[in-house]
Amino acid sequence: MSEKVKVTIDGITVEVEAGMSILNAARQIGGEVVPPAMCYYSKLEGSGGKCRTCLVKVSKGSEKDPRPMPKLVASCRTGVMDGMEVQNITSPEVIEARKGVVEMLLINHPLDCPICDQAGECHLQDLSYEHGLAKTRYEFERRTFDKIDIGDKIQLHMTRCILCYRCVYVADQITEQRVHGVLGRGDASEISTYIEKAVDNDFSGNMIDVCPVGALTDRTFRFKNRVWFTKPVDAHRDCPTCKGKVTLWYKGEDVIRVTGRKDEFGEVEDFICNTCRFETKKTSDWVIEGPRHIANTSVISSNHYETLKPLPVIQNNPVLIESNKVEFERATKI
Ligand code: SF4
Ligand code: FES
Repeated sequence: MSEKVKVTIDGITVEVEAGMSILNAARQIGGEVVPPAMCYYSKLEGSGGKCRTCLVKVSKGSEKDPRPMPKLVASCRTGVMDGMEVQNITSPEVIEARKGVVEMLLINHPLDCPICDQAGECHLQDLSYEHGLAKTRYEFERRTFDKIDIGDKIQLHMTRCILCYRCVYVADQITEQRVHGVLGRGDASEISTYIEKAVDNDFSGNMIDVCPVGALTDRTFRFKNRVWFTKPVDAHRDCPTCKGKVTLWYKGEDVIRVTGRKDEFGEVEDFICNTCRFETKKTSDWVIEGPRHIANTSVISSNHYETLKPLPVIQNNPVLIESNKVEFERATKI
């Protein structure tokens, strides 16, 4: 059995496996204690350490060496020690530093939320509301790029990219061949597909789901609707390529988008294939499980469809399938 250590985050003590990062230890506690993460993604190896939004204060290093760490640390890249004490929302220093990080990320990122497809589910938008300044101190011209179509299903708008590298890790780790990456350094860094080569493999669409901002968007969904007017519903199908567990986003009776199912930390539970995401947009392609639970802090939950009786999970049971149809019709009509 693996060794366990005790760590206290914002006054809450939790026992976790030795070697776990502070961020993941905080996720075991959940809620407000969890630092925001714009670049770390638990399903992508090597991710994290780029954006600094997850900074925390280690006020006690460990039981053996109680000295505090001299600087704020990236919680996604710092391992817990037995007896460690960490401050996240209880540290004014961390809140101040996070404000600075958000200001820095917004130097180049445009505040075009009203026309951005990611609005309503953008982590940078949430952070800006929480920590952002109403005005900018930046006097220079912001860098801007033309939009690039990466294949016929994905669009890259580099102007919005915060260089978190998540999409690069997706391309590297879950598609067969990496054809895009980050080129250039500093202000000149950009995601590029090497002569705009299309990313056309079975899992490339997952780049859209991992992008924390609106830099990579689904061309089959772009400008079709605002996400808070849609109704997310969990569904599955027997897919030979992936697990086939998705969220369908309905407008009336039409499926206008298919995505992976995101957990409370904004990460997909399972990566899905492009056939599920882009090619199967009829209700008859899917077995509907029921409304997707959306946190009530999200603007998407403004649709009150979840007040309906939750739909039963269907497992080839004709009675349940029939009753599900009735419930589902009610849910999508409201
Ligand atoms: S395009 Fe999106 S996922 Fe890729 S590096 Fe930029 S912000 Fe991150
Ligand atoms: S989430 Fe830790 S540095 Fe980005």
